[in-house]
Amino acid sequence: MENLIRKAAADLKAAKKVVALTGAGISVDSGIPPFRGKGGVWEKIDPDYAHIDKFMEDPADVWNVLIKDMKILIDKAKPNDGHKGLATLEQMGILEAVITQNVDGLHQMAGNTDVIEFHGSFAWQRCMICQKRIETAKVDISEIPPRCQCEGILRPEVVFFGEMIPHEALFRSRRLAANCDIMLVVGTSAVVHPAATMPMIAKQSRAKVIEINPERTPLTGSISDYLIRGKAGDVMNDIIAQLQDS
Ligand code: OAD
Repeated sequence: MENLIRKAAADLKAAKKVVALTGAGISVDSGIPPFRGKGGVWEKIDPDYAHIDKFMEDPADVWNVLIKDMKILIDKAKPNDGHKGLATLEQMGILEAVITQNVDGLHQMAGNTDVIEFHGSFAWQRCMICQKRIETAKVDISEIPPRCQCEGILRPEVVFFGEMIPHEALFRSRRLAANCDIMLVVGTSAVVHPAATMPMIAKQSRAKVIEINPERTPLTGSISDYLIRGKAGDVMNDIIAQLQDS
């Protein structure tokens, strides 16, 4: 582990263009559960609740079962050492951009200035009738589903299963993946595509792929050059300390 930290710090220092791809695991220590694995959302809730067809069929049910709790957790979440470490890497001039599958806004709160929200953002709700946008923090959830002044139902500006990835996010992410020389893959199970394709594009373009995750993923041992096993916050703290020492 210590060896891998030293290796990662040296690789990052030598790289010209570093991009991070993050997933739910980086926000676990901020109190937001992951989707898969132990304590994951899909242990308790059918993943169909994240499908756009389910939302269109019964928005009140999806608000009650999934979105309401997301709002409660995200409203109070603060960046942890994993997010802060990536912000420090940007301040050190090492990290160019973060591609995140997360919708919680914690990378921006930590200080990263170029964050591609691959699966949209939970910061805003949009009226399904008049398209007016309302900040999620200001939405009253005492009545479900919450509605706009025009009575239209509000939906989060996130990408549900069955919806397209925002074009700009997809195109920029592909370009960044194809042009980086290191991709740091932090806290993602790497099973949801096209996000999980980004490390493959990076690898194909001869980048080094470094994973940070307590568990192995489908990328481990094939697409990724090495896996640093551990929590995002702990590993990022060690890498930053090593970079500052060297
Ligand atoms: P997952 O929940 O699938 O995976 C979380 C990953 O984080 C797992 O590989 C864990 O081992 C790892 N992990 C857990 N705790 C960690 C910690 N403290 N530090 C670092 N890693 C940790 O989350 P995603 O890969 O982000 O999409 O899931 C991808 C997409 O599936 C989500 O964006 C969402 C979901 O369905 C949509 O809703 C469209």
